[in-house]
Amino acid sequence: MTFTGRFAGKAAIVTGGANGIGAAVVARLASEGAHVMVADVNEPASMVEGAVFQRTDVTSSDGIAAMIAAARERWGRIDILVNNAGVGALADIADMEADLWDKVFAINTRAIFLCSKAALPALEESSGVIVNVASISGLFADFAMGAYNASKAAVVNYTRSLALDCVSRGVRVNAVCPGLVETEMAKRAIADPIDREFWFDRIPMGRAAQPEELAGVITFLASEDASYMTGSIVVADGGITAHTGQPNAPIRQKLRASRQG
Ligand code: NAI
Repeated sequence: MTFTGRFAGKAAIVTGGANGIGAAVVARLASEGAHVMVADVNEPASMVEGAVFQRTDVTSSDGIAAMIAAARERWGRIDILVNNAGVGALADIADMEADLWDKVFAINTRAIFLCSKAALPALEESSGVIVNVASISGLFADFAMGAYNASKAAVVNYTRSLALDCVSRGVRVNAVCPGLVETEMAKRAIADPIDREFWFDRIPMGRAAQPEELAGVITFLASEDASYMTGSIVVADGGITAHTGQPNAPIRQKLRASRQG
């Protein structure tokens, strides 16, 4: 597929851009003309044309300062910041250690404040945009995911606060809440065919998203097509949060009828 150059001449930073959703965003931005910095603790397996790697730990203020300086030095501007780096943690309250809780918040939540603050002067100069990657787990709760749920709920509401702080500076801020996306983070949960069916059964669209489907939403929010959007929380979840969780009555009726007939 060929794309038009929506981001021609623009410079973008994607945290956690080496894998999964972040890597798909990097590829999409670059394919539409942007210069892109992959800011990740891990080096990507391959690099698309137009992208450069800057080893960055988003929990480190020094690392973030170096990331911003490198982007400004290389391109003289920053137009787009995608705060995507994130980690999961499966532990209920009895098993949750304070260190793990702090780590989840440091990467998923605190880093968004640090990266946004550091990028703001450059974003203000370019009338740029911030897109935060939250989660539907920031809107509702999951079993044994308290730290993740709380960290992503903070991202959702911080997106609104940040949008208000930035509005007079001409910088738009929005968030996307993905449902299940087929990346390393999710692969562990759905590797086993029985687990996979169990997960997919709860998704009205009956499948996980591919990372590229989230890249489409994230780059929309980063583009001029979203010029009147700020403080918006955009859900892309195959219908999970549209559903009360009650059973599919027509399918059950058909099943019952087929058993009787
Ligand atoms: P992933 O595990 O495939 O990629 C995450 C990337 O973040 C990796 O490249 C990793 O090296 C990087 N990273 C981790 N800690 C870092 C740090 N301290 N500094 C810099 N980079 C760091 O994960 P995925 O699935 O692509 O997740 C991306 C975002 O999407 C995360 O914020 C995640 O919470 C969110 N999300 C993912 C969902 C899914 O089902 N995969 C669902 C909802 C939200």
